[in-house]
Parts: sequence; structure tokens; C-alpha cells
Amino acid sequence: MYRRVELLGLTVTTIALILLFATVNQRPTREYPRHYPVLQDLILTNSSFATVPIKTVVRQNKFVIEQQLKDYPFPKNKTLTDFTLSVGGKPVRNIIITTWRSGSTFLGEVLNAIPGNYYHYEPLLHYGIMQIRGPPFADSAVTVLESLLKCEYDDLQAYLKYGQDHVYLFTHNTRLWTQCEYYPNYCWDPDFLMQFCKLFPFQSMKVVRLRLRLAERLLLNKDLNVRVLLLVRDPRGILQSRKHREWCPGIPDCDQPNILCADMVSDYSAAIKLKHKFPHRFSVIRYEDLSLNPYNEVKKLLQFFNLYFHPNVMNFLDSHTRINYGGLSSTFRNSKNTPFHWRMDLNFSEVQYIEEQCTQAMHLWGYVKAYNETNLKEFNPLTEFTLDNE
Ligand SMILES: *[C@@H]1O[C@H](CO)[C@@H](O)[C@H](O)[C@H]1NC(C)=O
Ligand SMILES: *[C@@H]1O[C@H](CO)[C@@H](O)[C@H](O)[C@H]1NC(C)=O
Ligand SMILES: *[C@@H]1O[C@H](CO)[C@@H](O)[C@H](O)[C@H]1NC(C)=O
Repeated sequence: MYRRVELLGLTVTTIALILLFATVNQRPTREYPRHYPVLQDLILTNSSFATVPIKTVVRQNKFVIEQQLKDYPFPKNKTLTDFTLSVGGKPVRNIIITTWRSGSTFLGEVLNAIPGNYYHYEPLLHYGIMQIRGPPFADSAVTVLESLLKCEYDDLQAYLKYGQDHVYLFTHNTRLWTQCEYYPNYCWDPDFLMQFCKLFPFQSMKVVRLRLRLAERLLLNKDLNVRVLLLVRDPRGILQSRKHREWCPGIPDCDQPNILCADMVSDYSAAIKLKHKFPHRFSVIRYEDLSLNPYNEVKKLLQFFNLYFHPNVMNFLDSHTRINYGGLSSTFRNSKNTPFHWRMDLNFSEVQYIEEQCTQAMHLWGYVKAYNETNLKEFNPLTEFTLDNE
């Protein structure tokens, strides 16, 4: 009798905890526990939390993920276990390849709104403000990406060390960061990270430091079965936005139009090649097209990524975009983020300077030059582009 009461007590506590975790984890984004004083107090007052073994934390999260994906329509009528690495499944893996200030934060958060998503945010942060185009860094950089996509953290010392001083490496991975706030001692532990990561059926990544050509090695790895999206943006918009980042000015890979646009030309030829070689696993989108038509474009992207247009994605779009039937069909809520904001912020001579360095890149990717100062403020910088002919 006594044992039965004890067991009941334990069960009730466990269920209460699980519910709390489930609530926390259901927040589509920014699910930082500081918004949950109740849970926070519980952790602080219950010192046993500090000594919860890794396997218990992993088991709790496994349960939460199962609950959240109960109704998720997995592709081809498969189930969660078919996509879970920890039990021998094969996750849905997607990478966004782009460069700084091209709208990848938004797109990364769209993917992260889906329950069961594990978000490898900018895994090459520890390389600094540089573009990786080939030797000497290409091999090690691609290996980092491969390891992360397989949830293998054992050989990622530089990555993990950097993250401990720059926690934004992990904060964008909201589901991981929640655990980091509960269990700081596990947050940078390769063993915990490996087990935790392997629970998630959707592995997403965005990379701003690796040029597209080098992503071919990832696509060739049949085990990974990864999909790659190249996210492109008008160089004038990119450079305008970078001007306002303190880490950028003075670094040629970041603030020089000719270097940015040479990368865009090289990405274009890589895109043609990859499109031909991996028609179902490689795709391209321009930031401007995405921002002008976020609902439709996100819908198409999720189809490409083999992900479901989850209601959380809809909520995310509702709160981050705004329909405006007057001019542009839709803009981001924060007008500073509208795709054409640069036309107001740059003067004509700055725009001309960029355009002179970027003639070929702009032509290939379908960006139009401004005629004069007046025209700059009102013209449509977009035209069609195609990957079909070179
Ligand atoms: C998935 O299941 C549904 C109903 O159970 C069925 O109609 C459909 O054909 C199945 N699809 C595949 C790809 O097996
Ligand atoms: C354009 O902006 C640049 C940088 O802010 C400034 O140096 C330049 O004088 C401006 N040119 C004109 C014509 O206003
Ligand atoms: C600027 O270019 C437009 C064409 O887009 C032209 O109609 C206009 O006259 C030009 N303005 C000046 C001041 O040259």
C-alpha cells in the first residue's frame, strides 16, 4: 500500500514535469525558459535537477518529441522512428547555403518553427569573418558540417570551444538552448549533444561562410541524403545591410563589392552544375522573391525540403510578415527588413560603385541597375533569372 502511494506520487511528479517540458518545448521559437518562472523556480529549489543523469534528460526529450510529432504527417507514411538517428533512422537533412545579410536568419527560423527540428546555426562561426572557397579550410569546414549532420560531436573541439564564449552558436537552436539553461553542465558535452541531437527527425543548417561549389561533397554523400538550398540576394541590399554591422567593415570578404560579386558569379556556375546533377536535392531562391511572397515561397520550399507546412510555420509567418495590397504584395513587419530598403539608405554614387563591380553577377541573378538618383528611389530592381542556360 505504502509503495503504491509512493509510486503514484512519483508518477504524478513525472507527468507534471513532462507537461512542463512539453509546454516549454511547444513554443515555436524563442522558447527560452526565462519566460517560465514556475519551472525556473522548480529547478532552483529542486537541487536534484542538477544531478539528473544524461540518459534521463535524453529520455524526457524523446518523450516530448514523440508527443509533439504525434500527428505529424511524415513523408511516405513513415513514422518518427524511421527518421530518428538514435534508433537507426534517417533524418530529413536540409542546408541553406548563403552569405552574410541575405535573409537566412528569417528562413532558418521558418524551419525551426517546425517541431522536431534541430537547428545547426552557422556551424562555421569559429572560422571568423571569412569566406571559404577552397584550400586550406575547405576540407575541415565541410567535415564539420558532415559531423554535425550526423550528430557526431566528438571531433568538434574548436566548434564547441568557440561556442562557450559565443553562445549564439547555440541560442538559435532553441530546443537545445532550453536544455542548456536547465543543464548548463551538459550543454557543451559531446556525449550529451550526440544523444540529444540524434532524437530529432529534422536536421536543419544554415551556413554563410562556405561557397556553393564546396557543398557538392555533401550532396555526393549518399548516406546523408541532404538537400541544399542556395539563398541569393541583391548585392546592393547585402552591402547596405553589412555597413551597419560592426564586425564587417574593413574585412575584404565582407565589405568589398568585387569580392562578393565574384562569389555570386561562382555560385551561379556551381548552381547550374548542381541543379543538373541533383535536380531533386538542390534548389535556389532569391531573398527578394521570398519576401515578396512569403507564404507561397515557404510552401514551395518546405515541399522541396520534404517538410510539412506545420501550423507553427503559419503562425511564424503571420507574426513576421505583413500583407500590404498597396505596393509590394507583402513585406516584413519591420520595415528596415524590407528587401528594397537599401534604395533609401544608399545614395546613387554608392549604388553605382557597387553596380560597376557587379555587372555580371547582377545580370546572372536578375538584378537591374538604377538609372539615376530619382529612378533609384522608385525602380523595381528585380527581373527574371534562369539556371537553364549559361
Ligand atoms: C498513405 O496512407 C494513406 C491512408 O492510410 C493512403 O491513402 C496512401 O496511399 C498512403 N501513401 C503511401 C505513399 O503509401
Ligand atoms: C554618398 O554617400 C557616401 C557615403 O556615405 C558619401 O561619402 C558621399 O559623399 C555621398 N555622395 C553624394 C553624392 O551624396
Ligand atoms: C532618371 O531616369 C528616368 C528613367 O528611369 C528618366 O525618366 C528621368 O528623366 C531621369 N531623371 C534625370 C534627372 O535624369
